[in-house]
Amino acid sequence: MSDGNGSPTDESPRDPTRFAPLDEDDQLGGWGRVIPSGPGPDGDPDLTTRYLGLELRCPIVASCSPLTGDLGSLRALDAAGIGAVVLPSLFEEQLEHEIEQVDRYLGLSADVNPEATYGYAPVLDDYNQGSVRYLRLIREAKAAVDVPVIASLNGATVGGWTEYARMLADAGADALELNVYQVAADPDRVGRDVEGETLAVVSAVATACDVPVAVKLSPYWSALGNLAGRLVDAGASGLVLFNRFYQPDIDLETLSVGPHLVLSSSDELRLPLRWMALLHGRVEASLAATTGIHTANDVVKVLLAGADAAMTPSALLRHGPDHVGVMVDGLRSWMAEREYASVDQLRGSVSQLNVPDPATFERANYLDTLTRYANTFLT
Ligand SMILES: Cc1cc2nc3c(=O)[nH]c(=O)nc-3n(C[C@H](O)[C@H](O)[C@H](O)COP(=O)(O)O)c2cc1C
Repeated sequence: MSDGNGSPTDESPRDPTRFAPLDEDDQLGGWGRVIPSGPGPDGDPDLTTRYLGLELRCPIVASCSPLTGDLGSLRALDAAGIGAVVLPSLFEEQLEHEIEQVDRYLGLSADVNPEATYGYAPVLDDYNQGSVRYLRLIREAKAAVDVPVIASLNGATVGGWTEYARMLADAGADALELNVYQVAADPDRVGRDVEGETLAVVSAVATACDVPVAVKLSPYWSALGNLAGRLVDAGASGLVLFNRFYQPDIDLETLSVGPHLVLSSSDELRLPLRWMALLHGRVEASLAATTGIHTANDVVKVLLAGADAAMTPSALLRHGPDHVGVMVDGLRSWMAEREYASVDQLRGSVSQLNVPDPATFERANYLDTLTRYANTFLT
């Protein structure tokens, strides 16, 4: 929803057409109703998919991680059959720091302490080497691989940094992913304000560039179904479900608090899987799943739930870029054995709109799970 100036207004009622009903072609069936029409003429299922308006040769995408910041790894991912790559993020804190430095140099903000602003952490430059190097990475990645290259911005507050979106697009990025990471810990800030700021950031980034923008979300929103539609109204062409947080841990020897990065496992897939199933066919945007996608079966599940793309970094960091080939082969075999002709045919056939009992994806699922467990436990 826009106020006519391109900025979102969370006052406005939701546009009901955003939650458009599926057209007939989309109603490919559902649980128990899917009638696979058999593989294509060459005998192989068609693995192509569309994500953010881009044609991908397969739905498996290498999500942001150090792997996608390295040209050798990018080439290896391309050779292994990846559908697209998302480069590691450039962070708001870095970009605002750069802006401050330039202002300071030009005498526009001489009294600013450059190290104290925006929680700038120089260590971020070790991760992606700052914006100049990042723009070069985009150009080099585009030259190195034949698949779409998606650049990533990571930030949550309105500021000059959102203007960098234009530079990333100008450097050749086929699309942008905007990770709106924030922990809403301020007790004086209500959810409406947090949502409003996120919508304003999305609107600023989408307005700044002329390539599609996907928004990578955390699952921690009180009304995600509603927010999803408003993000699309604000300019998002796609939603990425979900960002995975690295919760800090307490060291019992030193009593210090520190980051704790553990790669994910397939067990973590079910949260994005559920939301994929709930949002498929209800928002006019591409949907990508991330968190817990490690195997071909995980890819099949998110496609059945409604994803256009399945993003994975943990599995690739653990097994190396060649693991893409294993996942692609597994996906192809699964589809061929069940005579699915294409990813299009598979997509969303087990989404909430297509299952006989839609409540399965909502609260009844909780009750059912507890009851079943209790029955097993008591017998
Ligand atoms: C080492 C590492 C670095 C990451 N860097 C970024 C990043 O720069 N930007 C971002 O949006 N996500 C980043 N992520 C998150 C991943 O792209 C992904 O969304 C998340 O890890 C969930 O997928 P997984 O279950 O396969 O790990 C990173 C993940 C890992 C493991």
